[in-house]
Amino acid sequence: MTPGGATPLTPTPTRVVVIGPVYCDLVFGDLARLPEWGEEVFAERFAVAPGGSAITAIALARLGHRVSLAATVGHDALGDVVRHGLAAEGVDLSWVALRAPGTTPVTAALTAAHDRAFATYLGAGGDAVDVAAVLAGSDAEHVHVAGFPTALAQPTLAARAHEHGATVSFDPGWDERALTLPAVRTLVREADVVLPNRLEAARLLGAPDDVTSADLVTRLATLRPRGISVVKAGGDGAWGAVTGGAVADGAVLHAQAPNVMALDPTGAGDVFDAGFLDAWWEGVTLEHCLARGCWFGARATTAYGGASAAPTRMEWEARA
Ligand SMILES: Nc1ncnc2c1ncn2[C@@H]1O[C@H](COP(=O)(O)OP(=O)(O)OP(=O)(O)O)[C@@H](O)[C@H]1O
Ligand SMILES: [Mg+2]
Repeated sequence: MTPGGATPLTPTPTRVVVIGPVYCDLVFGDLARLPEWGEEVFAERFAVAPGGSAITAIALARLGHRVSLAATVGHDALGDVVRHGLAAEGVDLSWVALRAPGTTPVTAALTAAHDRAFATYLGAGGDAVDVAAVLAGSDAEHVHVAGFPTALAQPTLAARAHEHGATVSFDPGWDERALTLPAVRTLVREADVVLPNRLEAARLLGAPDDVTSADLVTRLATLRPRGISVVKAGGDGAWGAVTGGAVADGAVLHAQAPNVMALDPTGAGDVFDAGFLDAWWEGVTLEHCLARGCWFGARATTAYGGASAAPTRMEWEARA
């Protein structure tokens, strides 16, 4: 924030590395229902788009940040779709490693306006990225970890990134088992910003699914020695709390999600992350970071494909 309190129109771009599996998302949209075994249902809409870590990378690049992606894809047609999609958005692919054909991670997303189901092949996405090499070879100011696999392979990533002078954010994503493992909890504790959705937070904390989001974010903040804890809750918006920061410990803030005509919720959380981080790097209050994240997340639901509707800097500045 400038001394007068006004937000600069062109904030300084942040050099950021996004680490985590990138998927070729095949989005079957507007389904009336999910198929039963042995059945076929026909989608009204279809999109192919880079998914997983690519969603936050693209959303950050659209805001003018200097984004590199560190991930592993197959040397195949689906890998080309992902790489071309990222390159077209200006994301640097120097740290994308190529593996054998047929190993590009792929997700079939079956979506309706209110919910979605996925079938995923992780393939080369399970291969660990050499985080030490990425940190040593880049001048990143921030590392965003998209998805739990990186935490499993590199639980001490946050400490390493901090040694390089970079801050760290972590969106674990969903995996029933991984969220209970010590490696994932280590990164949750040590990252500067953690951004699970409410189911992920409940699983991480060993809390029942019906605990309120405000309670979840309080528990998450208590677990962490410092930094910002966020819990995303779809159309109910997002909750946030700071440990050891300028905001009093224990103070829980909530931002409403704007009302939108949601078409596809896939990637809303990842685009939320981009909006939240963009605000955080600007130095605005947690309340404003949550509000920007919610606005971005809501926008993301208005088109098929994770990052398709991620806003540009101009669209954010021109918001109604
Ligand atoms: N139906 C909706 N209407 C308005 N805003 C929404 C809606 N769904 C999501 N959002 C916004 O996006 C944010 C993130 O959504 P959500 O909680 O679904 O994340 P997520 O489960 O991590 O999503 P994903 O993993 O698919 O990217 C919410 O906090 C909210 O601000
Ligand atoms: Mg998510």
